[in-house]
Amino acid sequence: MPESPRPATTHTRRTVLKSTAVAAAGATPAPAPAPAVAAAAAPTTAGDVAEVMEITLSVNGRKHAVTVEPRVTLLDALRERLALTGTKKGCDRGECGACTVLVDGERIKSCLTLAVMRQGSAITTVEGLADGDRLHPVQEAFIRRDAFQCGGCTSGQIMSAVACIREGHTGSDEEIRQWMSGNICRCACYQNIVAAVADAAREVRR
Ligand code: FES
Ligand code: FES
Repeated sequence: MPESPRPATTHTRRTVLKSTAVAAAGATPAPAPAPAVAAAAAPTTAGDVAEVMEITLSVNGRKHAVTVEPRVTLLDALRERLALTGTKKGCDRGECGACTVLVDGERIKSCLTLAVMRQGSAITTVEGLADGDRLHPVQEAFIRRDAFQCGGCTSGQIMSAVACIREGHTGSDEEIRQWMSGNICRCACYQNIVAAVADAAREVRR
């Protein structure tokens, strides 16, 4: 018996796939038309130029007039306006402790506070610890105990240690580790740092 001709409406696998693809394309929402007017560019008037402020910072016993934008951190003000580069920038987000300074005797991470908020406070950086040529007992102990390698964390460790000793958190190595835990050392000098803090604490208490 002769094969009957394929009806004109018969779909082959190819035509089905093609028509499915076309349908799917049709179902896809058309991209949003471009806005008739592009979003307005930020105005370039004097109003959007960052405001600057004249502030006074008291650092290591000296007053400094500093011009800063309100968004400038204490860390950047110290390093970039006052050239006190002993305070280090590690993470710049409060995680490493490299930027630790004392503000009114309390240790803080200077990357987490704004310079404008610290007017009227007594700020101490690592540059302000020594008494002339005489290093602070914590500085001496860090050298004696070889408590650093690259030095990236060291000024923050020292400032934190000064406060830790004043706070009385040096009763044991475990206590020192706990209260110095906000200061990270990527060179892993922790054993020597703890020994240095314990040494300095004994010396300060004598
Ligand atoms: S630089 Fe401030 S905590 Fe790391
Ligand atoms: S000495 Fe290198 S990070 Fe502490």
